[in-house]
Amino acid sequence: MEKPQLPAARRFVDEIRALYAQDLDPDILWSKIKDAMGPLLTDPDLKESSKTWPLTVEGAPKVKNLLFYEDPDYGFVFNATVRKANSVTSVHDHGDVWTLYGLIEGHETMYRYERSDDAPRDIGPAKLKQVGRHNIGPGDVDSVPPGNIHQEHGGPENSMAFIVRAQKAGTFKQRTYNQETGEVKLNDGPTLIPHELR
Ligand SMILES: [Fe+2]
Repeated sequence: MEKPQLPAARRFVDEIRALYAQDLDPDILWSKIKDAMGPLLTDPDLKESSKTWPLTVEGAPKVKNLLFYEDPDYGFVFNATVRKANSVTSVHDHGDVWTLYGLIEGHETMYRYERSDDAPRDIGPAKLKQVGRHNIGPGDVDSVPPGNIHQEHGGPENSMAFIVRAQKAGTFKQRTYNQETGEVKLNDGPTLIPHELR
C-alpha cells in the first residue's frame, strides 16, 4: 500500500519504520511510537483533512474504521474513527495486538476493566471489574496494550481519532464482553473503509 500523501503522516510512517528496524522490545517500541505521534495529531493539515472524514462509529454494534495505510514490511496500519457525540461502545479488547488511539478533536472518556475469573479467555464467563477511568482530549494518545479491556464513551461533541495498530483488523480476533452475563464473543473488529489520507 502506498504511503499517505499527507506530509506529516508520511513522516510518521518513516519514523515508525525506523523504530521497527531497531528490533526493540514491544513495550519500548510502542512507547516511542506514541511519542512520535504527538506532532501528527496537532498537524494543521491533518486537522483540515479530518473534517472531511465520514462518521464511522454511531454506537455499540456498528463500528467501522477508515483505513489509510498498511505497512508492507512490518504490518502496522493507520486507521481513524469519527465517533458520534455521547455514543458508548461495548466493553471490548483489540485482541492481542498494540493500539495507539490519538484524539485529533473532541473529548472521550476511557473506562478500563480487568478480569477477575479463571475462565478461558475466549470463552468466559468473564467477571469484569472497573480498574480505571480517564479523560482524553485533542493531542492525547490512549495507549492500549495487547488484551487490554476497555470501553470508549464519546463526549458532548463528535470526536475524531487517528489510530495506529500493530496489525490490520480482520487478521486477528478481538473480544467483546457482556458485563451482566459474562459472555465473551470473538469478532474480526471494525469494518475497514479504505480512505485516501491527503
Ligand atoms: Fe477500543
